[in-house]
Amino acid sequence: MQNYKDILSEILIDAESLQSRIAELGAQISADYPDGNLLLVCILRGGVPFLVDLSRNITSPHMMDFMAVSSYGSGKRESSGAVRVAMDLQMNIHDKDVLLVEDIVDSGNTIASVLELLHVRQPRSLKVCALLDKDERRESIVPIHYRGFKIPNKFVFGYGLDLDEYYRNLPFVGVVDLEKYKLPD
Ligand code: IMP
Ligand code: MG
Repeated sequence: MQNYKDILSEILIDAESLQSRIAELGAQISADYPDGNLLLVCILRGGVPFLVDLSRNITSPHMMDFMAVSSYGSGKRESSGAVRVAMDLQMNIHDKDVLLVEDIVDSGNTIASVLELLHVRQPRSLKVCALLDKDERRESIVPIHYRGFKIPNKFVFGYGLDLDEYYRNLPFVGVVDLEKYKLPD
């Protein structure tokens, strides 16, 4: 795999801007969920760095759980809309205040399906917190109750977002230079 520096066309959101926005989101969520019934549901794998930093900025008591979904359909950048649960939550979410934590909402299909799936389990509330919102590409209309940043329609990586599973560790969100990026063999 290439070094990220060779495929980065620009840093879209630097580490400091991410952390200060996440601190604001954490403060807002702490105020909105004061009573200890909050369950953060992280969508694997992209939501992990965001979940960790967000959680450290939430001062009210809360729980966390994880789920993995994958979209049906073959192509990498296309999805049929429906998702398959690859790993379900461990916890019962009935009567919990569930907050979905996602790296990015793109077409919106993933979040729309997950919301539908969790809704039938009767949580007390069900809301969405997304770090990035690529709203030009929306196909499914989904609510985003807490949003970090609106971003343009560019393929980004870092801070949870992967390029063929690499670079999720980077502390910033960068734009890929698609002319320089080669698929790993
Ligand atoms: P959606 O179902 O189209 O909203 O897609 C959501 C998923 O696609 C995200 O959870 C990401 O894993 C992935 N994704 C969408 N845009 C990007 C991007 O620019 N970089 C990396 N992953 C992306
Ligand atoms: Mg991905």
